[in-house]
Parts: sequence; C-alpha cells; structure tokens
Amino acid sequence: MAKRKTLFIGCGDGREILPLANHQEYLLIGLEPSDQQYAKATEALRGFPNVRIIKRRIQDWEAVEYEGDIDRIYFIFPTPVVLRDQAEEIIAKACFLLSKDGGRFHIFTEVTLSRWPDPGDKAALQEFLRVLGDGRLSVSRNEISFDELPRMVKESYCGVLFKKHNLSPFTAIEARKP
Ligand SMILES: C[S@@+](CC[C@H](N)C(=O)[O-])C[C@H]1O[C@@H](n2cnc3c(N)ncnc32)[C@H](O)[C@@H]1O
Repeated sequence: MAKRKTLFIGCGDGREILPLANHQEYLLIGLEPSDQQYAKATEALRGFPNVRIIKRRIQDWEAVEYEGDIDRIYFIFPTPVVLRDQAEEIIAKACFLLSKDGGRFHIFTEVTLSRWPDPGDKAALQEFLRVLGDGRLSVSRNEISFDELPRMVKESYCGVLFKKHNLSPFTAIEARKP
C-alpha cells in the first residue's frame, strides 16, 4: 500500500514529527535548514525507517519526485518574518508538491489578526494569507484555542512555549487545491 506522505516545513528539533513516527502507513519528511535544529531532529528521529529529515529550506528542496504527491503539508509556528519575506516561494513550492486529490496545507501560528499585539507580525500573516489565496488555493482561517491545536503541534517546542503566552487564540489556516 502506498504511504501517506506528510511534509513538515521547518520541523525544528523534530518534536512535532515524533507523535506520528511509529505509524508505518506514513512517510514523514521534515525540512529544517538550521544546523543545530537539524542535528537535534536527526537525533530524535533516528531509527524510524519512515522518517526523512532533510537540511533544506522548502524553496531550495527540489523534490521533483514528489510533484503533486504530498498529502499533508504542515508549517507549524513559522517565524512571522519568514511568512512575510518568503510567502511567494514557500507557497509556490507547496502548490507544486500538494496532491490535487485531497491534499491539504496546514499552517498554525500564534499570531492572530484579532488579538496579537505586534502590528508587524499581523501584517506578515496578512501578507501570507493574501499570497495563499491569490487564485491558486482555496483557504480557510480560524482562530482556535490552544486546546484545539492538534496534538503534535502542542507537543512541538514552540507549542510548549506558546502555551505560556496567555494570548489564546491561535490561528489555524487550511489551504487546498480548488
Ligand atoms: C519558530 S521555529 C518552529 C519550529 C517547529 N515547527 C516547532 O513548532 O517547534 C521555525 C523553524 O522554521 C525553520 N525555517 C525558517 N525558514 C524556513 C524555510 N524557508 N523552509 C523550511 N524551514 C524554515 C527555522 O530554521 C526554524 O527551525
């Protein structure tokens, strides 16, 4: 049986992949450009045959063999400046990779348009949403509580930190090919 392919953009130390790592029906791919985080993720996920950790930014990952073949893409707690400055490249590559057949691109961020105090961060999220909805993908956005974040997000390093920020809600974005 073909494995469900799940991609984690900026997987950090790999904590968000661990909850799925024992599920052999998934191929789990984590992209992480930082030397330090990549080393941690590689160590944490050593010995799981269905996990690949790749030291690359998504836009630099060629991945021709995965064109239109990724079932789920997660971008969990992205840095707002990355959302702002790299929106076009990241979204273009996500569109290239995402399966037409039910593929979903999920983004979870602590920044909300309603309550987050930093206007620069809010503008970054707005810009990312603009590019995401620019005709190529159909997009939904919800503000949700910490408890509604998927388990693997709660277990990610940033998830643990953000639990303490006390500014719930968070933003959950889902995009798919029309
Ligand atoms: C705030 S951290 C979140 C890490 C992890 N997702 C978590 O929640 O614990 C953002 C991560 O994205 C990575 N990153 C930044 N730009 C990226 C890009 N263009 N493609 C892939 N990863 C990127 C950074 O190296 C960093 O580890």
